[in-house]
Amino acid sequence: MKKIRIHLIVATRPNFVKAAPLLIQLDKQDWCVVKLIHTGQHYDQNMSKSFFLELNIREPNYFLAEIGVSHAEQTSNVMLGYEKICKEDFPDWTIVIGDVNSTLACSITAKKMNINLAHLESGLRSFDKTMPEEINRIITDSISDLHWAPSMDACENLLREGVDKKKISFVGNIMIDSLKMKLPLIKKLKVYLEYKLVKRKYGVVTLHRPSNVDDLDKLKSIFETLNKISISIPLIIPLHPRTERNLKKIKNLVFLNNKNLILIKSLSYLKFMNLILNSKFVVTDSGGIQEETTYLKIKCFTLRNNTERPITILEGTNELVSVQNIEEKITIYNKLKNVTNIRPKFWDGNSSIRIVKNLYKKIKEKQAK
Ligand code: UD1
Repeated sequence: MKKIRIHLIVATRPNFVKAAPLLIQLDKQDWCVVKLIHTGQHYDQNMSKSFFLELNIREPNYFLAEIGVSHAEQTSNVMLGYEKICKEDFPDWTIVIGDVNSTLACSITAKKMNINLAHLESGLRSFDKTMPEEINRIITDSISDLHWAPSMDACENLLREGVDKKKISFVGNIMIDSLKMKLPLIKKLKVYLEYKLVKRKYGVVTLHRPSNVDDLDKLKSIFETLNKISISIPLIIPLHPRTERNLKKIKNLVFLNNKNLILIKSLSYLKFMNLILNSKFVVTDSGGIQEETTYLKIKCFTLRNNTERPITILEGTNELVSVQNIEEKITIYNKLKNVTNIRPKFWDGNSSIRIVKNLYKKIKEKQAK
């Protein structure tokens, strides 16, 4: 049988974590040949290379360099770059992940070339179209041929939008595949010691959403609040490049002298997950971290008005907070002993196996037609 040609697209930090277990499973199959395409949206040591190394991801077959910064630049440059790749190496299937600009760009390019499109982490919705990611999710899902959903609410969103039931598969959360795979290594580290922190007696903060970090007044008020919180419990903040750059623009950052507010460069996957695992709580605006904390049973305060991952609130450890109420919420939580929660269905480390089985089944069905 002629081997099925697959392109797996990766672009940013969270994509690398989700692609790693899928690539391992796909590479084991004798019915397909997989090319890894890195669009270069995240490219430096901390944001990209360390993830490839720690998650044992093989070298990409194609790498698009310098795609730009603005949404239009990134989307159009990735479309142009990926179109060239497809002309040279026409795949039967393109697999895109998550909701970043490169996901959208490669989806449109593939579909317009009549390449079958599969979307991993399909169906999540924040119902907030001011988020660039929400636009990327909706458009990608509207043209995908296969939808791999991480949770039941995601399946329901897709059905509500009129997606054919036969195209949807509830495969579970693939981020947990990576986390389970690397947990023995993550547990061995003691990253908190490097920063003179005490296990379970510190909070981890990550912020990078445009809605929190692009408006300098808002960013300043968030950091002033964090400064107050850190008087009672130390906070460590691995800085995303977008946040680091914007923080430098704020004048009078007197609180940076506070020893309990530890600002560091963004961390590699293993180090970061170790810091989370041993923390008392996390404050974030990331999507993936809401899920990882639920799996690890660590309290998560999400500094956003909404979440595309409501299951982490319903079944997990997550809670939405605002700049106005976060200090009070953390104070109350710090008096409690621990959180109790369950792990959502199919967050079990086997999502990549379910995905590959589903893809093979669909390919066979198409060939039989
Ligand atoms: C992107 C995604 C977001 C995802 C996040 C994960 C979109 C719309 N946004 O946001 O959904 O949650 O990644 O981190 O696709 N930079 C570096 N080094 C790098 C990568 C980026 O310095 O390796 C700089 C860029 O030059 C840019 C800034 O960081 O100035 C932001 O990067 P960008 O990819 O545009 O968006 P993110 O905010 O990371």
